[in-house]
Amino acid sequence: MDNSKETPKVSRREFIKKGSSLAAASGLVSLAAPAILSSRSPNGRISLGFLGTGSRACEILRSITGYPETFVTDVCDIYPPNLEEGAKLSLNDKVRKHEKWEKVLEQKDVDAVVVATPLYLHVPMSVAALEAGKHVYSEKSMGRTMKECNEMLASAQKHGDLVYLVGYQSRLNESLKVTKDLVNQGSFGKITQFYVHFDRNQTWKRVDVGPEWDRQLNWRLYSEYCDGLLTEVVTHEIDMVMEVLGTLPVSASFYGKILVYQDGRENHDSVMGTWEMEDGVLGVGTAHLSNASQGVGWSLLGTHGTVASSGGGLKLYWEKEARHLDSLGIKHKFTQVQLGQSLKESESPNTTPAKVLDFKVDNDYDLNTGRAFKHFYNCILNGTKPVMDAVSCRRTSIAALMAYHSSINGGRLFTRQEIEAMG
Ligand SMILES: NC(=O)c1ccc[n+]([C@@H]2O[C@H](COP(=O)([O-])OP(=O)(O)OC[C@H]3O[C@@H](n4cnc5c(N)ncnc54)[C@H](O)[C@@H]3O)[C@@H](O)[C@H]2O)c1
Repeated sequence: MDNSKETPKVSRREFIKKGSSLAAASGLVSLAAPAILSSRSPNGRISLGFLGTGSRACEILRSITGYPETFVTDVCDIYPPNLEEGAKLSLNDKVRKHEKWEKVLEQKDVDAVVVATPLYLHVPMSVAALEAGKHVYSEKSMGRTMKECNEMLASAQKHGDLVYLVGYQSRLNESLKVTKDLVNQGSFGKITQFYVHFDRNQTWKRVDVGPEWDRQLNWRLYSEYCDGLLTEVVTHEIDMVMEVLGTLPVSASFYGKILVYQDGRENHDSVMGTWEMEDGVLGVGTAHLSNASQGVGWSLLGTHGTVASSGGGLKLYWEKEARHLDSLGIKHKFTQVQLGQSLKESESPNTTPAKVLDFKVDNDYDLNTGRAFKHFYNCILNGTKPVMDAVSCRRTSIAALMAYHSSINGGRLFTRQEIEAMG
């Protein structure tokens, strides 16, 4: 990130709020706006406090501690081994360690917090952090309920001078931009269907912790803490598809079961169902913890072709028998795609196999996470608006919550209005 060309935007409110601690720390009399944020930490770095230092926070720490902007001042976790791991990965031997997350928010020199706790804590922590004048990188999903998502949106809008974003890091994928362009150009004809899937063969249950920690650390299994597969994993894939389509679901009908892991869990280990989008496009969503063959990914299917994403790479296919659709007035432009590896004028969809496009950063989890933090830093330092903002992430949560409520109600169709009325 090059911060040298642009002047950091600091609102008067932030200027005043942060001014006193800055003055105390630096002894400066004249506070030039561009220096405000960087003066709070040595060498222009952003002071970060981590709320929760479990598995995801540690992945984040491994990805970002090498960046010049990163300065981890505080870590917090209720589970001592995770707190120690987070402290170690902070690469700061003076890092402050806390058991209570509120203590992090009391630290005047903390610029921003990373919320990487179970879902039920995302909104309480993020709202309190914004109230305390901290920028927030919240892990996905935005919130566990419609009420929480609405509260979060209101808080983000109230604190428009602070950055709030949700960690849908794949929203920044280059492959997503390419997909959007191809879909908008009509490369795949009229999009009629999509599939989003997240299939793994793993229990999701930690067995290395005593019963006193079971619920806190196996939170994914219990409905008190999150909404299971739909808010935890499928949410990533539906987020990307909605970003390309630009539409919202009008209804959802999903089934959920505990098919394999009869271990006292409440959240389903298997879900499957459909959304209908506002323009009539139909989508299937599935997630299983008992079979990994379908892997993780999404695909968009149109009258003239298909784009399938897995891990960040793309496979593009064109339909062999699509020319009859021209007479129905369905336009396509597959011969005009100018993407190096895509169809050339001389190629025929009848003979050309799938085109594979690879994207190094998109395919690499650590680089992908790092890119999301570069984006977060850029928003803080340069006043750029976050791509994964509160408005769009609330929409993604609506889609996941529609599917979730249907899945815990025996597949009953839920409309968007019903879900929104819960807020
Ligand atoms: N963006 C991604 O690709 C991605 C990947 C994995 C997880 N996540 C998200 O990250 C979040 C954390 O997931 P995880 O896999 O790290 O789970 P985890 O269980 O490994 O970590 C959660 C941590 O929060 C701590 N915690 C619980 N209550 C707390 C409290 N009151 N105060 C402080 N700490 C508390 C736990 O002790 C634990 O260490 C979840 O929201 C998850 O959905 C995102």
